[in-house]
Amino acid sequence: MSTSPKPVKKVPIHLQSAQNRVYIKNGEIVNHDKSFKADVYIEDGIIKFVGPPSEITIPGGVRIIDAAGRLIIPGGIDPHTHMQLPFGGAVAVDDFYHGTKAAIAGGTTMIIDFVLPNKHESMIEAYDKWRSWADPKVCCDYGLHVGITWWSKSVSEEIGILCKELGVNSFKTFMAYKGLYQLNDADLLDVFERIRSLNAVAMVHAENGDIIAKNTQRLLAEGITGPEGHELSRQEEVEAEAVHRACILAHQVNCPLYVVHVMSKSAGIEVARARQRYRGRFIMGETLAAALGTDGTHYRCQHFDHAAAHVLSPPLRPDKTTPEFLMKLLANDDLQLTGSDNCTFNKEHKAKGLNDFTKIPNGVNGVEDRMSLVWEKGVHAGLLDPCRFVAVTSTNAAKIFNIYPQKGRIAVGSDADVVIWNPNATRTISKDTHHQACDFNIFEGMTVHGVPEFVLVHGRICVENGLVRVAEGFGRFVPTPVRPPFVYDIIEGKVKPTADEQHEEKMNGNMAKKFAELD
Ligand code: URP
Ligand code: ZN
Ligand code: ZN
Ligand code: ZN
Repeated sequence: MSTSPKPVKKVPIHLQSAQNRVYIKNGEIVNHDKSFKADVYIEDGIIKFVGPPSEITIPGGVRIIDAAGRLIIPGGIDPHTHMQLPFGGAVAVDDFYHGTKAAIAGGTTMIIDFVLPNKHESMIEAYDKWRSWADPKVCCDYGLHVGITWWSKSVSEEIGILCKELGVNSFKTFMAYKGLYQLNDADLLDVFERIRSLNAVAMVHAENGDIIAKNTQRLLAEGITGPEGHELSRQEEVEAEAVHRACILAHQVNCPLYVVHVMSKSAGIEVARARQRYRGRFIMGETLAAALGTDGTHYRCQHFDHAAAHVLSPPLRPDKTTPEFLMKLLANDDLQLTGSDNCTFNKEHKAKGLNDFTKIPNGVNGVEDRMSLVWEKGVHAGLLDPCRFVAVTSTNAAKIFNIYPQKGRIAVGSDADVVIWNPNATRTISKDTHHQACDFNIFEGMTVHGVPEFVLVHGRICVENGLVRVAEGFGRFVPTPVRPPFVYDIIEGKVKPTADEQHEEKMNGNMAKKFAELD
């Protein structure tokens, strides 16, 4: 047997500006599919090397970070934010600067925000408006979804332009917000058909807006005007019915559907069942940090400000077993992602609904705490492994929105959006210390394991041992191209479910038995 030593491949390093070069040693890399010990070298915002130290010569003047005992993970991707959204007569207080700064502080290095055009407003004009708000302010990269808030021939044409020329591959439809954004089933079918024809991804806010409108009238007439009325007007089955209907409508026209903000057990079950029916990735489901980290019992709090601060749609559920149930759905791939739906309003904005819960601007925080929340309630609680944590906080979003492996992976050639994560350190969440612009934090007082000790955005060290130093406008718009293979290869029958997916199917079967007990 030959005993000659394995040849060592040396990676040439060009001498360039030292601040662009970072070497991370002794860490454990965690991607969605495996974890392993390796060093990472970053230059000019790109990961240039991943491997053992024996295979690289480090030049002088490189910033060296010792990541012993830490995990090196792809920066989080928050697929659902509403920075500076005009909503209900107010404007969300986290703008694209504060919102992305907070994101970075928490280990998220990309957000995907929603352009929400007004009724009869051009989709392209609205898109331009969002770009003009975001481009000068974002501290990290961002992408855009566009809401189909009304429907016409011109909207249909504009969807084509957004897909082909403007880097948008995902469109959110609304089954709720009657009179504002809500589309009826006939329109939804047309929208889904159009989205399918462009190889894009449909998204849906699934709540039955007609039921909500009727319940709201009744509750207000009965004198129920406080924040508790918000949840009473739109209870679990109102969400679950819409999820079920949306999945069927999308399936009828063979359009992939991403269900945003799954907030209840019954809605999560509908997503899981639809995935079982349609085999795997046809239907995708996102839940929120809020749904995993708190619950709807706060709506019963006698202090209006406290209760109103928790108002979002669909609402948090009073069933206290909901957060763990949703985490288990994430663990089993019945749900695929976690967003924040960050859409923050301050006390004086929420007070618009003092005498009428329908006037409380909807939305909560989460962009900063999402990663730690999922770690605490998922990994620390023993429900997720670190690889699955990476999948549901980063990689799945990158795959679904077709920016993988540029984002969502620690690999040579990927963007150097990198987090050095201390799984054992803890921090206590508070409005007094968070980086968001809002005056309330729905996770106030919670101590969470999992701290992003270093956060690199395109190779730039933005978080270092508690210090957050971002650069306004440093982030870039990231186009999301149509036809994500992760979604479309399965729809088009190009790939068969892998062994993994067969396993998932079996898991789904087991889950279905559990669900039956809940019905
Ligand atoms: O309450 C929420 N979720 N506000 C933002 C708008 C939306 O429906 O996502
Ligand atoms: Zn929504
Ligand atoms: Zn209270
Ligand atoms: Zn939202």
